[in-house]
Amino acid sequence: MASYKLLLLPGDGIGPEVAEGLKTVLGALKETGLASFETETDLVGGSALDAHGVPLADATLQRAKDADAILLGAVGGPKWAGVPYENRPEAGLLRLRKDLDLFANLRPAICYPALAEASALKRDLVEGLDIMIVRELTGGVYFGEPKEITSLPDGGKRAVDTQVYTSAEIERITHVAFDLAAKRSGRVASAEKHNVMKTGVLWKEVVTRVHAEHYAHLELEHVLADNCAMQLVRRPKQFDVLVMDNLFGDVLSDIAAMLTGSLGMLPSASLGAVDDKGLRRALYEPVHGSAPDIAGQDKANPIAMIGSLAMCLRYSFGLGEAADALDGAITDALAGGARTADIATEGTTPIGTKAMAEVIAQALKARVG
Ligand code: NAD
Ligand code: IPM
Ligand code: MN
Repeated sequence: MASYKLLLLPGDGIGPEVAEGLKTVLGALKETGLASFETETDLVGGSALDAHGVPLADATLQRAKDADAILLGAVGGPKWAGVPYENRPEAGLLRLRKDLDLFANLRPAICYPALAEASALKRDLVEGLDIMIVRELTGGVYFGEPKEITSLPDGGKRAVDTQVYTSAEIERITHVAFDLAAKRSGRVASAEKHNVMKTGVLWKEVVTRVHAEHYAHLELEHVLADNCAMQLVRRPKQFDVLVMDNLFGDVLSDIAAMLTGSLGMLPSASLGAVDDKGLRRALYEPVHGSAPDIAGQDKANPIAMIGSLAMCLRYSFGLGEAADALDGAITDALAGGARTADIATEGTTPIGTKAMAEVIAQALKARVG
């Protein structure tokens, strides 16, 4: 059995708690013989700031570059509210994404059969839901320059963020979306605001061209991002693969999360380009944040983190069978009635983070053994 080098970056708030849950599952994977890992752990976000004075130390970035894959919990929290903008915990995560060129963020929103009642929407709207949000992750308003606050002569201030996209950046994320769609229903919806933004005009133009040149046999629909938000709540199953820029992807994936029952359910994969050896850099992380309101209470749902490991098995290591077994173990745990507080519905008694990870680990062993 090959052994892969994983870098664990638990981060802040509930990050370390869901990362502990992840370790339980890594142990079970090894026991079943499905996959084996060498793991190193390091600091990111507020915890790195406390230890090193920066939210991502250069040595950690180097370790991230040397790892076969990175698993990250979450960063941020009220403790660091007063630190300078450049050093805020979130800047550590953004530097990882940018410096590793992890431009393609895959955020699958799947409504597990047992959780249809936990969704914010009615059962028939979400039952069987399986959409894939493809979020551009290294461009747009997150990184565009200028980005500043300046003082005005009248004593007021002026804040600027800059949304920038090149055609090359839009092209590569469009390829990711269509390549995924080709293995799914063959349908891509591209969300932008070409009615207001120049980047939206270019986005629509490039997506249209890439579709016509390379994927004319697949279906493309353009949807304005505000309408897309509404359609996600009105009739989410109309969508299969959705592709969008960095900021729209951030916002619309939190909406999609609630269709599945909780933000604690959504995993993600942030992928770089495939190199000549067929390898790619990758970071896997839950879509949720550090959840300061429940941190340290063994209440966090570890499924988004554990689901991110399943994505790692699939996308970084080609271990489809192990990934299916892990996704299946999550399905089994939920079908057996295991619920953390965020997804608890009438008739279920919530269990903690550790217990949920343990139930999933046992379900995995039961599937394989
Ligand atoms: P959040 O995602 O941390 O929490 C939003 C709500 O969802 C909270 O009520 C929280 O309790 C709940 N929630 C989130 N994850 C959960 C889980 N696994 N189980 C159960 N409930 C869960 O968003 P926020 O409160 O807006 O942000 C808190 C901090 O996290 C901020 O500093 C923000 O920048 C950061 N953040 C980090 C990431 C990341 O590291 N990738 C993502 C989002 C937000
Ligand atoms: C996410 C988070 C991050 C983002 C923050 C923490 C920088 O909200 O991964 O969804 O905005 O991309
Ligand atoms: Mn977000």
